[in-house]
Amino acid sequence: MALTKPASRPANPRFSSGPCAKPPVFSLDKLSDAALGRSHRAAIGKDKLKAAIEETRDILGVPADYRIGIVPASDTGAVEMAMWSLLGARKATMVAWESFGAGWVTDVVKQLKIDAEVKTAEYGEIVDMAALDYDTDVVFTWNGTTSGVRMPNGDAIPADRGGLTICDATSAAFAQDLPWDKLDVVTFSWQKVLGGEAAHGMLILSPRAVERLESYTPAWPLPKIFRMTKGGKLIEGIFKGETINTPSMLVVEDYLVALDWARSVGGLKGLMDRADRNANAVWAFCEANDWIENLATDPATRSNTSVCLKFTDARISDPAAFAKAVQKRLEAEGVALDVGAYRDAPAGLRIWCGGTVETSDLEAMLPWLDWAFHAEIDAQSQAA
Ligand SMILES: Cc1ncc(COP(=O)(O)O)c(C=O)c1O
Repeated sequence: MALTKPASRPANPRFSSGPCAKPPVFSLDKLSDAALGRSHRAAIGKDKLKAAIEETRDILGVPADYRIGIVPASDTGAVEMAMWSLLGARKATMVAWESFGAGWVTDVVKQLKIDAEVKTAEYGEIVDMAALDYDTDVVFTWNGTTSGVRMPNGDAIPADRGGLTICDATSAAFAQDLPWDKLDVVTFSWQKVLGGEAAHGMLILSPRAVERLESYTPAWPLPKIFRMTKGGKLIEGIFKGETINTPSMLVVEDYLVALDWARSVGGLKGLMDRADRNANAVWAFCEANDWIENLATDPATRSNTSVCLKFTDARISDPAAFAKAVQKRLEAEGVALDVGAYRDAPAGLRIWCGGTVETSDLEAMLPWLDWAFHAEIDAQSQAA
């Protein structure tokens, strides 16, 4: 039976989990105010970097006594800068439920060789965060971008704790509520929920994290790019826009444009609502079709940004080849780009639902997923 293709296509087929879709209002001419060819140490450059920090604080509701720094090497740079600078003072607990968290485990266990307890969960599951020892330094990822599993809230983390909590929130910031009193270090990158560009990371430090930086010197050497203290005191300038090395003023401008857009859709609440609405459209599709499921087993931990899906139809003999073929059909039709599961994750699809994605685009894409699935099932049965 010839399958009929849906009548309409999404206006924007970009559903990549990073770099993510630009804000719907984006165009290159929006960057015309960029301080190009100017020094980032001149007033114009410093003002823009400071504005990026203060707008971030305002929209995310970061407490006034937390420091916010723009650092090199995107989220990876921010997380590694934090781990290399802060860990080692006490035992660590390394928590992972997908590949990015697993990367931080490798850093700590194999590179830093710190005394650490490692707690992991399979893709789709989450670690029991209430069972951890918070007198150790706990490193975890708020939203597992490659498994679509997130922390439901921060209730498991005691407000009064001996260790630091170091949280990679790259695919959560601007889409999920982050309980600042439970978090000592929060990192993210501009290329995710706000659809910014890569290369720069955000490093947010609680007063307790700063206290650790000023009272503890790691046993290992720290490259200049990681150094946040001088003579035992925090280099405050880093947290006012005096970056350690040269940032891209074009990328900074792009972030300012994204922050402006974020404000125009209602700030954090507006962004969270947009992501929830988007994820709901995909979840409803899974409810309505018995051949596809959310990879996250517990509805409370389902991500509203990186929604990961698996095919469950018994006729599928090779899940990886099947998912790849469906993805290829969607790409070839120009209706969904970059929706393959992450290379280390179980076979399936991953559909970005952060706030820069329009719900109408997801709604226009999902009938195509239905079409691609049935077309591939037909192709498979004809080949058999
Ligand atoms: C949870 C998480 N951590 C870290 C990273 C790495 O981010 P970046 O490439 O911006 O350093 C990503 C990127 O997808 C991520 O999703």
